[in-house]
Amino acid sequence: MKTPASSPAGQGFACLESRAEMKRKLLLRGIRQLVTVRGPAVPRRGRQLGEPGIITDGAVLIEQGRIAQIGPSARIENLAEARGAEELACPGQVVIPGFVDSHTHLVHGPPRLDEYEMRIRGASYEEIAAAGGGILTSMRAIRAAPASRLRYQAARALRQAASFGITTVEAKSGYGLDEAAELKVLRILKTLHGEPVSVVPTFLGPHAVPPEFAGRPDEFIDFLIGRPLPRITQRRLARFADAYCDRNAFTVDQTRRFLAAAKERGLGLRLHASQFSNLGAVALAAELGALSVDHLEAIEQADIDIVARSSLIATLLPGSVFHLGLSRYAPARALIDAGAAVALATDFNPGSSPSISMPFVLSLACTQMRMTPAEALAAATINGAHALGLAAETGSLEHGKWADLVALEASDYRELPYYFGMNPVSMTMRRGEIVYMKESSTCP
Ligand code: NIG
Ligand code: FE
Repeated sequence: MKTPASSPAGQGFACLESRAEMKRKLLLRGIRQLVTVRGPAVPRRGRQLGEPGIITDGAVLIEQGRIAQIGPSARIENLAEARGAEELACPGQVVIPGFVDSHTHLVHGPPRLDEYEMRIRGASYEEIAAAGGGILTSMRAIRAAPASRLRYQAARALRQAASFGITTVEAKSGYGLDEAAELKVLRILKTLHGEPVSVVPTFLGPHAVPPEFAGRPDEFIDFLIGRPLPRITQRRLARFADAYCDRNAFTVDQTRRFLAAAKERGLGLRLHASQFSNLGAVALAAELGALSVDHLEAIEQADIDIVARSSLIATLLPGSVFHLGLSRYAPARALIDAGAAVALATDFNPGSSPSISMPFVLSLACTQMRMTPAEALAAATINGAHALGLAAETGSLEHGKWADLVALEASDYRELPYYFGMNPVSMTMRRGEIVYMKESSTCP
C-alpha cells in the first residue's frame, strides 16, 4: 500500500483506495498494547466495565473485513492462516476498538453562535429555547437548507468522527419537525452509511413543538404518529425512535404515546431522559423496553435503581454539561456501583454539545464523573454497541466481529483521556478498511 494521498480538504482522510483491502488478508502485528475490551456477550456492568482485556505485543489477523484471529504476536504470526497476509505495520503503539458514538444529532445545520454568546452572558439553555431559539433556531435552518448542503456538512462531520476514532455513529433527525424536513434528513442519513463510518438512523420526532403546533403539543404527537412515522417505517429510514421527555419539552404521557406507536411499527426505542428535570422518563423507558436512556444528569436514586435492575443502557453525555457550563454531571459512579450498564456518547449537536470528539468525552468521563480510563473506554465502545443493538458485530476486538479498530500514538491506553483536548488517533479502520490516517503517519 502506498502513502495515502491527501483528501481535497487536505486533512488526510485518505487511504480510501484501500477499499480493496476488504478482500485481502491483513495482519497487524507488534502492537504494544492491544486493548480488546473482550468479555461475555452482554452489556458490561460493575467490575466487568473496568476490565480492558489487554494483550501485550498483540496481533490481529483480518479477513474479509472481520477479525479472523487475535492474540499475542508470537502465536498469531505462526498460524498457517496468517501465511500470505499483507502486513500492516501499525502507525500507533496502542490499538483499541473503534468508538461507537451512540447518540448524535449529526445533521443540524449551522452553529448557534449568538445563543452561545447569550449563554456566556448568563442566559440559560432553557430560557433561550422558551424564547423561540434553541432547537427551533436549527429547525428553521434545516427546513430552508437544500439536501445537498446538509449532506455535504454531515459528510464532513463523519470524516471528523473517523479522525477521532469513531467507526459507528447513531444519528437522529429532530430538527425538521415537519414531514418533508424529517424525511429529508433521514434520507440523507441513509446515503451516508459507510461514508466512511457506519450510520444508525433514529427518528427523533418529539424534540420540540414546531410553530405550526404552538401550544398544541398533543396534536403534534398525533401528527407525528399519523404522518411521518408510517412513512419513515415503510421506507425503512430509521432503526430507532427517540423523544425528548423533560420540563419545557414533552410530558411522560406524550412521550409514551409516540414511543408506543413507534414500537408497534417495529422501531427500537431510546429516550432523552432527565436532562434538566426528573419527570419519570426512566420508568417509562423500562416499561416500554427501550434500549437506552440518555443524559440522566437530573436522575435520582429511585431511577438509578430502575436502570441498574433493568436491561436499559445508561448513555451519559458529559460534553453537553461541559458546553452548557453546568456542573451537574450524570452520577456515573453511583450508576456503575449500583450495577447499571453505562455507555458514553458525544451528543454532537449545535445547542448543547458541538463536538464529535470521543477522546474528549473520555477525558470528561474520567475527571468530571470519576470513571476510570478502562471504564470510560468500555462505555464508549462495547456498551455503545449494546446501546445500538450492534454488539455482536462491533464494539470489541474479538473473533468474528468487524475489524473496527483504532491505532493510537500512545504507549498506554490511559493516555487517551489523560491528554485532554488532544487527539492521539493515528489510524481508524472500519470493516478492515482504513478510513482515516493522520498526515504524519504513513501507510506501510
Ligand atoms: O441532547 N435536549 C435535547 N436535545 C439535544 C440538544 C438539541 C439542541 O439544543 O439543538 C441534547 O442536548
Ligand atoms: Fe441529544
